[in-house]
Amino acid sequence: MNFSACKKSLANVIVIGAQWGDEGKGKITDLLSRSADVVVRSQGGVNAGHTVVVKNRTFKLHLIPSGILYPQTECIIGSGTVIDPQVLLEEMSQLEALNVSTENLFISQTAHVTMPYHRLIDQAAEERRGKRKIGTTGRGIGPTYADKSERTGIRVVDLLNPDDLQEKLEWTINYKNVILEKLYNLPPLLPKSVIDEYLQYAERLRPYVIDSSLRIYQAVKKKKNILFEGAQGTLLDLDHGTYPYVTSSNPIAGGSCVGAGVGPTIIDRVIGVAKAYTTRVGEGPFPTELHGEIGKLLGDRGAEFGTTTGRPRRCGWFDGIIGRYAVRINGLDCLAITKLDVLDELEEIQVCTAYELNGQLCYDFPSNASELARCKPIYKTLPGWQKSTTECRSLDDLPKPALDYLKFLAELMEVPIAIVSLGASRDQTIIVEDPIHGPKRALLDADGTPVNEN
Ligand code: GDP
Ligand code: IMO
Ligand code: MG
Repeated sequence: MNFSACKKSLANVIVIGAQWGDEGKGKITDLLSRSADVVVRSQGGVNAGHTVVVKNRTFKLHLIPSGILYPQTECIIGSGTVIDPQVLLEEMSQLEALNVSTENLFISQTAHVTMPYHRLIDQAAEERRGKRKIGTTGRGIGPTYADKSERTGIRVVDLLNPDDLQEKLEWTINYKNVILEKLYNLPPLLPKSVIDEYLQYAERLRPYVIDSSLRIYQAVKKKKNILFEGAQGTLLDLDHGTYPYVTSSNPIAGGSCVGAGVGPTIIDRVIGVAKAYTTRVGEGPFPTELHGEIGKLLGDRGAEFGTTTGRPRRCGWFDGIIGRYAVRINGLDCLAITKLDVLDELEEIQVCTAYELNGQLCYDFPSNASELARCKPIYKTLPGWQKSTTECRSLDDLPKPALDYLKFLAELMEVPIAIVSLGASRDQTIIVEDPIHGPKRALLDADGTPVNEN
């Protein structure tokens, strides 16, 4: 089954991170955007950093969907995202300076807005947590989502109504100033200067603001191909990740529907992006983490530094328990395995196939982070290939141990691998099965009999 086609032909695809973020979602989304009419970001904010490399030009995107490099593709920042207007406007200017048009960019009127007090509180709370810190990106993400849940948030639509904005912000800033001054010993914010700053942002963003759920639905009706680009990753999910070492949104596949405002019945396929090894930025348990030379080698060869904060990423072996968990939680149809080339020099490669917890073997991901912290990985050792794979363009070009490694991962996770990535640029990719225009290969015929078994 390993390299057989994904289960379904499709039009609407969710691309999500199957680990702790930074799996290469930006590269895979850009690649698939070639065949997409609309690309939607459903959740997260400027904590995300998605890198796209095209002909030696590197684009680092935080909020703008990675489909923006295709002039014909509509890019929508959906309702479930949190928007820092200052960073978004900078990102738009940077793209324009590189001759990338943002004419096809749209912003949801119901997305929440990150304010200066969110950033200040995020950073001050992290400092106050001391040893218990989460290692956030400091971009105000948690406090913005907290206000959304508390129902004191400011939404894009509020920015467009100056009188409303003034009234809401005066109340909110006075309320937040109590927290800043009394809890964190920080100087208060001046309501007028924040209001003036955000009114300026509002005027620049106004032409891009739409009813995003409606626009996506209209695209669905016209049978357009829609790509939902996940941010962060499965294990950073607020409900299903390694809580409390998570982000404040739902990066899993289900979160894409909530954040975009579409029903799950329009989704045709879910693609999980996973590195051929594992990385994590920030705090929290990481069973397969490598502290010695091999961890350093993965970090160096993989250039593992956070796209948003520049922090070094922690590196470790591929964790099959996490992989299988991602398949379950997201209903993955297939996988894109990235950064296989980073393993090129290794003599031997290990893959975690089980955990040992309290003297017993366990094959399912524990839902409690403190249990996860006590899990010891049980490894299967596979031979390395010690040859460069960066020029490989088909599975036949791969050294046999590299192919065997991929087959082992697919078997472990019980899903096919549709894409293999061997470098940052677009062409350094093996498309095993084009997840958008591949042949229709249903698993079951209408009467329930299996088809295309081979
Ligand atoms: P994202 O947040 O999931 O989009 O991932 P990031 O962009 O934060 O991090 C992935 C990094 O790996 C970026 O610098 C990419 O350019 C790079 N990258 C993506 N795929 C590959 C690959 O197959 N090989 C190598 N060596 N680098 C890759
Ligand atoms: P992309 O989309 C990797 C991590 C932070 C921290 C935790 C909470 O590029 O994959 P937050 O600022 O969200 O409150 O931080 O989540 N984190 C990411 N790690 N990739 C990301 O995004 C991340 N976004 C947040 O490092 O551990
Ligand atoms: Mg990233």
